[in-house]
Amino acid sequence: MSALTFQALRRLADGRFHSGEDIARALNRSRATLSEALKCAPDLGVELFSVPGKGYRLAEPIEFLDAAAIASRLRAMDARVSLQIVDEVESTSTRLLQLAEDGAASGTCLAAEWQRCGRGRRGRSWVSSLGGSLTFSMLWRFERGAGHLGGLSLAVGEAVARALSQSGVERVQVKWPNDVVADFRKLAGVLVETSGEMQGPSVAVVGVGVNYRLGERVLDLIDQPVTDVAQCSPTLPARGELLARLVGTLAASLEEFDRVGFSASRDAWRSMHAYQGRRVRVLPGREAAFDAEVTDVAPDGALVVSTPDGRVVHLSSAEISLRGK
Ligand code: BTN
Repeated sequence: MSALTFQALRRLADGRFHSGEDIARALNRSRATLSEALKCAPDLGVELFSVPGKGYRLAEPIEFLDAAAIASRLRAMDARVSLQIVDEVESTSTRLLQLAEDGAASGTCLAAEWQRCGRGRRGRSWVSSLGGSLTFSMLWRFERGAGHLGGLSLAVGEAVARALSQSGVERVQVKWPNDVVADFRKLAGVLVETSGEMQGPSVAVVGVGVNYRLGERVLDLIDQPVTDVAQCSPTLPARGELLARLVGTLAASLEEFDRVGFSASRDAWRSMHAYQGRRVRVLPGREAAFDAEVTDVAPDGALVVSTPDGRVVHLSSAEISLRGK
């Protein structure tokens, strides 16, 4: 995507009509160049109207992220993070994995208005739209070893769910292992990638994608039940404020995880689990599916289920998925 596309969309962010001539003049470009740059708006998940005699108008206004305002909120929360916001990147997690290799400090955080190639769990892609999503990743260095990071993705899911609830999003729950849902539909996803020594130290790149206001067209591109913040909030929280709260809450939770592991979030996670006490169908990657009832979550983040024949099974593989019954 060209820088001009983002500059032009910023001029259109208020959702009102702006003449092509005015935008082109303000950006010091020809109208033809502007029109070419705006042709890629649909690729960003943005609906743009072009009306002869009136100009361009976005179907929905876009609240672009204001780095200075978000940094000031993070300072007020005493968050020990260094946040950078970019217009476009392949994937915030891929970029942060590279920065981690180059020695970037714990607490380095990267948010992007648009990811060209967002990654989800199990090799899936993560669909987002410009202004309709929040996508960011945080690098955290732990004293504890990679062998002691069990439960980390659950702790992250709990922090994300809590930050969303505190921002006024209703009916937020977690779904093992690390989805955030509302009404059993996916609201946010968490991708945790770890490396390091078994005995420590270790490093995690935690990627978070939140569906903010995806719009019907983008929702249709997603092959699972999804929802967004707009559908679950009586008053839509400002995108920048929500990002600040998510980043600040996550940083505090990662700090705590390094001290005490999953135990700090375990009770909260259990009380927010959409399937706690419910009958589920367990789909273990390559093995046969079976029915069970969810009874608990173990200190290492494994889901504890009991089968109809009375067996207690700890589910810990990221390959396992649950379906409600
Ligand atoms: C999932 O499949 O549920 C996890 C989705 C994680 C998406 C986020 S968006 C920010 C970060 N960058 C990526 O490429 N993926 C994660």
